[in-house]
Amino acid sequence: MADEALILEMTALARAAASRAHAPYSKFKVGAVVRGANGKLYSGCNVENAAYPQGNCAEASAISAMVLDGETRITEALVIAEADAIVTPCGGCRQRLREFAPLETPIHCMGGGGERLTRTLGDLLPHSFGPENLA
Ligand code: THU
Repeated sequence: MADEALILEMTALARAAASRAHAPYSKFKVGAVVRGANGKLYSGCNVENAAYPQGNCAEASAISAMVLDGETRITEALVIAEADAIVTPCGGCRQRLREFAPLETPIHCMGGGGERLTRTLGDLLPHSFGPENLA
């Protein structure tokens, strides 16, 4: 059973993060939140750059905040955009999450109107390569 109160809290944080996105090129503002094993929530927004490939995704920003705080285990994640349709993490961000999250981790993909698609990381990134491949 999903913890609806937690999802609401994560959604509010992600929306706040999206409102601060620097997305002058795509105009697609994204916010992401990861929940650490320590119970703390870390948010991030996308930060674009005039040299397009140098931009980074909201998930990357949220993960950076988590790592900076000394946490390296993700138990849940959520992504939302300032758009109507449900947004799912891009392929690169699925792999970024994979570094810190087990395959059973729920990833909440939100629509602007509050619709939600929740899938495990393993569903979003099947047959993946991860840290244990290098152990
Ligand atoms: N974006 C994210 O921040 N996360 C995703 O998972 C999907 C895409 C951003 C990158 C870029 O700034 C904008 O959305 C359009 O692709």
